[in-house]
Amino acid sequence: MNTQANRNGTPDAAANETACVLPWIHLCASIDGVYGRCCVDDSMYHNALYDQQDEPVFALNDDAIGCSPGSRYARDNPDRVMGVQEAFNSPNMKRTRLAMLNGQRVDACKYCYFREDHGAQSYRHNVNRRFHQEFNLDALAARTSADGTVEEFPFFLDIRFGNTCNLRCVMCTYPVSSSWGAKQRPRWSAAVIDPYRDDEELWATLRENAHLIRRLYFAGGEPFLQPGHFAMLELLVETGNAGNVDIAYNSNLTVSPERAMALFPHFKSVGIGASCDGVGEVFEYIRTGGKWDDFVANLHLLRSEADVWLQVSPQRHNLWDLRNLLEFARTEGLDVDLANVVQWPPDLSIASLPAEEKVRATDELTDLIAWCTGLGWDKPAAHLDALRSFMNSLDPAGLVEEGVS
Ligand SMILES: C[S@@+](CC[C@H](N)C(=O)[O-])C[C@H]1O[C@@H](n2cnc3c(N)ncnc32)[C@H](O)[C@@H]1O
Ligand code: SF4
Repeated sequence: MNTQANRNGTPDAAANETACVLPWIHLCASIDGVYGRCCVDDSMYHNALYDQQDEPVFALNDDAIGCSPGSRYARDNPDRVMGVQEAFNSPNMKRTRLAMLNGQRVDACKYCYFREDHGAQSYRHNVNRRFHQEFNLDALAARTSADGTVEEFPFFLDIRFGNTCNLRCVMCTYPVSSSWGAKQRPRWSAAVIDPYRDDEELWATLRENAHLIRRLYFAGGEPFLQPGHFAMLELLVETGNAGNVDIAYNSNLTVSPERAMALFPHFKSVGIGASCDGVGEVFEYIRTGGKWDDFVANLHLLRSEADVWLQVSPQRHNLWDLRNLLEFARTEGLDVDLANVVQWPPDLSIASLPAEEKVRATDELTDLIAWCTGLGWDKPAAHLDALRSFMNSLDPAGLVEEGVS
């Protein structure tokens, strides 16, 4: 990564195509205690280590931001153990800001650039749109010191408070879900992972900076089963800061949300992307262990307290059920987000469909796009359009070769 940014206050002209607002406002912390620029930061994930028969050395990727004291990486990377404040200005985070201002692509962000190169929506696009007021390159450059430091507390946090989950979805894996861990994991690792529960420094930092937090995103694992998620909500309520905070979730909505619902009225807003990858049997096949009726009941319960939409991860198992899903959403009056296309595992990606099925799938998607457009339902139409491009711009071999697996 080039560290020589143009620091005369003027971002490079190419920065619009490479920069992301998140390194200036946000920090992510993974299920197993690695900090990231965001939740799709490639350097944060060390999945191959969990395939080892014998306990491996938990060496952090060179490009990773750092690790938390309670993580399994701490012992093997003593020089890179840090708290959230230090992580926000760790050497790799500072280099990332400078490279982005310099119009350079950052290796750790290849997941987004890959999607953009293949016609799909990227998280970078999404957050730059959402935080358009903050995504002013001149203003970001002005807030960035010569070595890349930003002297602020990240107002947007995505801390994954462990992997506890009741489901074992077909496209998910260990260590993301403890239920996957219960079935299949290396013997040296416990099914449940939660590096933050006893991290006193983290909780003290969160308490001290609670007044600066404006947005939280919860996923996991299943957030409605995570003790740390409840502790975080309670901390903001106790310190009188909840009213400043927008909270957003991805939840499988198959466990009771009632404990969280009691806290929701304290917050500025609550948005829930209810993960829904099919209707009825298709839902239950993909979301192994989940019951469609429970999902629908929780959906109805939550709608009184939160803004709820359907969060779909398009993949081979639900491509032919997207019509049902969209019709269900119309009936319920719900918005649908289809941007999170499954890339891994490659055999579940729609890009790995045989050529003749892609032809039929293209017709189906074209028909659905026309249907949504006719209804003035622009967001799903745009996501389906991106899905069609993504499917057709890649051959199955390309999925592996281009490093998305
Ligand atoms: C990992 S889950 C965690 C939150 C919660 N348990 C849930 O299912 O919504 C967050 C989102 O990632 C999606 N997801 C899971 N596995 C995926 C994969 N292999 N590729 C893309 N998205 C995936 C889920 O469908 C869900 O919408
Ligand atoms: S519910 Fe979420 S975390 Fe649990 S297995 Fe499914 S995708 Fe993974």
